Order: sequence, then C-alpha cells, then structure tokens
Amino acid sequence: MSLTGRSLVSIDDLSNGEIEALFSVADKMSDSLSNQSGVCQGKIMASLFFEPSTRTRLSFEAAMLRLGGRIITAVEVGATSLAKGESLADMARVVGSYADIIVIRHPWEGAARVVADYAGIPVINAGDGGHEHPTQALCDLYTIKKERRTIEGLKIALFGDLRYGRAVHSLTYALARFGAIILFPPSPGLEMPEHVLRKLTTEYKGKLIRLEARDQEVKKGLFPLDAMYVTPSSSHQLAMLPDISIQIELKKTGIDTLYVMRLQKERHAPAEEGQELKKNYPVVDKKLLKGKEFKGTIVMHPLPRVDELAYELDADPRSMYFKQAARGVPIRMALIALLLGTKEITISKEAASFVQKVDYPIYDRDSGVRCLNSNCVSNQETETRYIKPEFKIVSLEPLTLGCLYCEREVHPQYIASSEWHQGMLETKKYHSADSHWIRKIKPENLIIFDSESEAGAHGFKPSSYITAHRRGR
Ligand code: NCD
Repeated sequence: MSLTGRSLVSIDDLSNGEIEALFSVADKMSDSLSNQSGVCQGKIMASLFFEPSTRTRLSFEAAMLRLGGRIITAVEVGATSLAKGESLADMARVVGSYADIIVIRHPWEGAARVVADYAGIPVINAGDGGHEHPTQALCDLYTIKKERRTIEGLKIALFGDLRYGRAVHSLTYALARFGAIILFPPSPGLEMPEHVLRKLTTEYKGKLIRLEARDQEVKKGLFPLDAMYVTPSSSHQLAMLPDISIQIELKKTGIDTLYVMRLQKERHAPAEEGQELKKNYPVVDKKLLKGKEFKGTIVMHPLPRVDELAYELDADPRSMYFKQAARGVPIRMALIALLLGTKEITISKEAASFVQKVDYPIYDRDSGVRCLNSNCVSNQETETRYIKPEFKIVSLEPLTLGCLYCEREVHPQYIASSEWHQGMLETKKYHSADSHWIRKIKPENLIIFDSESEAGAHGFKPSSYITAHRRGR
C-alpha cells in the first residue's frame, strides 16, 4: 500500500496504519530537519490560501523548502481569476498543470474535495470552511502520541466551538478511530454537528452517552459534561456509571487532554454574533486547572488563541500548544514526501484497511433536493455550472441525506418511486417521507423531494394519505 498520488481531503482518507507510518517518517525527519533537502528537489508545491493563515501556510511552505522543493503561491481570491468568476474546477485543472502538489485553504465547505476531483495531482485540504482540517488533526494526534505514547483509552475533553471548529471535527474522527474516550463539556449553541455525532456512532460503532449538565455539579466545582463518547475499543466502564459518579470518577482518574478552541466568529451568522456566545464562552486558566482532574492533563490548542486560553498558562508544563504548532513542520514534510512518492513506506494491507467505511446508497437524482448549507461549495454560483447536488442516504427513518461535499444533513419531507409510474400520470404519486412507503421503495427507485411544489413540478400528485392529511388539518 502506498500513499503516492493520493489526496488528503478528510482525515478518513488515511487509515490508522497509514497515520502511524506517517508519524514514523515525521519522527525521522524531525531528528534531522536540515538534512532533507534532497527529498523533493525539483518538485513544486502550489500553496493556495484563500483564508487567513499563519501556522498552516507557513509550516507547509517551510516543510516544502526543507525538503528542497519550491513553492508557487496565491493568497487572496481577489488576486486570482476566481474573482472574475472562474470556477474552482477550472482553477484546479490549471494549477494542476503547473505544480506537483496543491495545498488549499478555502472558506467554502467541500472546496478541497472539488479541487482534488479536478487537479489530477495530489491535493491537501488545509481547511475548508467549518468542515475539516485534517493536517491539524495529524499534528494534534502526533502531539498526544508523543506526550502520552498511546491514544487508546485516553479521556480527551474538547472545549469550545465544536460547531464550526473544523480542526476539532477532523480530530474527533481520528480520536474515535484510535479508541479515545471523548468528553464534550457543555457548549450551548456551539455543539458538535449532527453529522459528526452520527459518524461516531454509525461508522466507528461507538456509544454516545448524553448527560445532564447539573447545576449542583458546577457549584461543587466538578468538571461539567454534556456528553461522552465511548469507542468499542476503549473501556466501557465509565459509561456504566450514573452521571454523577462519572464526574467523581473523572476527578479520581483525571482527564488526559484538554483541547481548547477559539470561538470561530467569522463562521457565525450575524444573528449568532451577539455577545451572548462570547460572554458564556469557556475560559481555561490557572483556576480551572487547579481542579484535581487536571493534575496530569496536557492542554492543547490549534491556535490562534483569543480570550479562551489565559497567557498565565504559557509557562505551565502542562501547556503543549507551542510544541504542537512546531510539530506541524515534520508532520507536513512527511505528508508531502509520501503523497509525492519521494518517500515510500510499506504498510501491510491489513493496517491500510479502513475500519469505518460504510457504503451508504447515493442519491444523485435531479429532483431539486439541495444542500441547505449556504457555505457549501455545491451552492455557489460559479460551481453550480458543473456540480450537481449529491447525497449519501444516511438514514431512512427519519429520512436523512448527507451532502457529499460538506456532509451537512437534510431531512426531505416527500418521496416517490420511479418503479410504479411508468409513464402513467395517475400512478405518479408522492408520499410523506415518514410514511411506511420509505421502507417499501428500493433505494435505487427512490425519488426525493424537498417540497410538495417540487414534487408537483416533476409531475407527481399527492397520495391519498397526503390529501386526507391536508383535509384533516
Ligand atoms: C485553526 C483553523 O484554521 O481552523 N488554526 C490552525 O490551522 N492552526 C483553528 C482556528 O483558526 O481557530
């Protein structure tokens, strides 16, 4: 198994065995950072950063320079033909003919996937909107492994904006796959998106336990939790305990890692931008870390920090965030070299296999169903010329589609079958998505509508159930 020629759009593009192998290449590289200048000689990396970046861009560029390669760069949409209305696909094709590898950061969710589909060369996702940031997750995982040796069974608390924090989405998937116990402290309004939680329980076969964050626990100074996620490979012992003793157990055994994030205010809709979210945002400081459960905790942050992580912690030996950022260079060196095939690793077929792949049926009929995420690449004017909405059918009851680009979920209300109407208008009926028809219609015959008007526009008539229901209203 080799990584040569592949892209990294999601952390799930790498198996656990491949991640471990990449870490061992990074280990070797970090032992002699300045001795690697022959590895990518003659290669060109296109560094396309259409959103602010310090660490990710500079560590990627430093990595390529240390490997002896060169860089071409674009840092603003306004300075490229994207500003003239060019599509990402066209840009990808062209840049793909100039460079050997592309690193892209873009505000649209799913943008990196489109670039990978069209570039014809390896593409690395350096952050696509609030969706994923797989190389940050690699740096995070690498740091946890270095500091704790293993990830399996560790108790890792994720603190902050879980909704829009792309780095924490990729990290959550990786932690689950490596068998960590993930703790979600309360973050009202900023909870983990449904599609991330669904993946944990369906694809990684873990258990999500929702707890009531209780006022009295907070008063007693116990670390409050909203939910915990337990993977099949980690001990379920904690999960057996009632809520209150989970808190006590955590006090006793401690939290291994506290992963902090800033409020991703640039991704919040104006209505959410109020002071409320900011006011209630958790702050990690000396006082919090005095708790018994944090005695041996390592504190991590993808940076940049704003107000959520006190400067007084910088000298604390538990603080890991600057080390975490520094490790970005050897990790990205290893990744570039492996994708370009200038370094090879042997990974057994077994280690390279993906435990989490679930083959969901795909829904790609032109029946008007759209992704509801206005930030999804499939909803952008320049991209709708060639992108057709595509979904995974992730659940039938309730009917749930996951966008293939941004993974956000939609819950369409109406369904029909392509099998029954065969040109006869009177049998072209649509039904409610929560009726028994959802189990009767084969996935390959399923037609899905967002609204009754869309069903009507496609020549379908309401079923008698729908008309009776309307009369009853
Ligand atoms: C993160 C990002 O860009 O998503 N930063 C980074 O890459 N180190 C986190 C953030 O911006 O909050």
